[in-house]
Amino acid sequence: IVEKSLRPQRLSQYIGQDKVKRELTIYIEAAKQRQEALDHVLLYGPPGLGKTTLAMVISNELDVNIRTTSGPAIERPGDLVAILNELEGGDVLFIDEIHRLPRIAEEMLYSAMEDFYVDIMIGQGPTAHPVHFPLPPFTLVGATTRAGMLSAPLRDRFGIISHMEYYTDADLKEIVLRSADIFKTEILDTGAFEIARRSRGTPRIANRLLKRVRDFAQVEGNGVVTTEIADKALDLLQVDHEGLDYVDQKILRTMIEMYQGGPVGLGTLAVNISEETETVEDMYEPYLIQKGFIQRTQRGRIATPMAYEHLGYPRPDAEGRLF
Ligand code: ADE
Repeated sequence: IVEKSLRPQRLSQYIGQDKVKRELTIYIEAAKQRQEALDHVLLYGPPGLGKTTLAMVISNELDVNIRTTSGPAIERPGDLVAILNELEGGDVLFIDEIHRLPRIAEEMLYSAMEDFYVDIMIGQGPTAHPVHFPLPPFTLVGATTRAGMLSAPLRDRFGIISHMEYYTDADLKEIVLRSADIFKTEILDTGAFEIARRSRGTPRIANRLLKRVRDFAQVEGNGVVTTEIADKALDLLQVDHEGLDYVDQKILRTMIEMYQGGPVGLGTLAVNISEETETVEDMYEPYLIQKGFIQRTQRGRIATPMAYEHLGYPRPDAEGRLF
């Protein structure tokens, strides 16, 4: 028996991201009616929100093949040519982390996206000559954590730009229930909600926490995921009641204890907690900002009074000092 994939295959199974779904439904239908390739799609938003899944769903809805690669995987222009060469008319080419494409590969994409050809240099030295290489019409689906990291010429070649938002607790609960059903795990509505609300708005995290809570339910309980079981397991995983994990908490504690609440630069903060600046910027900061624990200012990031309160620190004085 093949385990049903956690990834939804169709737009109708894809929970949440209603605005993105509504738009894509129309553009996909229109492209199919005209028997044309769908215009290029840029998906941007924090990691774990389902950009790869959505690219697969788009290809399923278009009833075409999908080829998948990522910016860092393409080291030389030849790597890109090889994958472009495999495309058939209407196919989807998915490039994850497209902001990390090498510059020469990116420039090659311009003509591929706009007019479906690439010019490649064959040979070296005096015998080198360009060869014009036509491509079938295809749909590029690019994914990036921040649209601002793309160069303007690349960004401008996407006809459809969709921003993925953090999921609501209600949508995440539905995702947890659906995943539990696929795992054949018994779960109460309240248990699903507890996991949902502590998953930082992110399905990838919700599904990971569900797996751990399910282990806990199996060994420490009677297999049913209840609120109590979820609560105990999540405490063990150091996920607090606002859904902040160990790293989130460490970021806030560092800001408060070492920098009097800030302002502090992101790079400085990242070094202090031994994480990559990019990881802090893409994964941690956006959620802490959305939750109101961090504010961005011109001089750096500051911890808000809510952060102090949440972590049990006394309210700071005007200089941010605790005592
Ligand atoms: N699993 C992960 N993300 C999902 C989503 N958006 N809808 C349904 N199942 C999912």
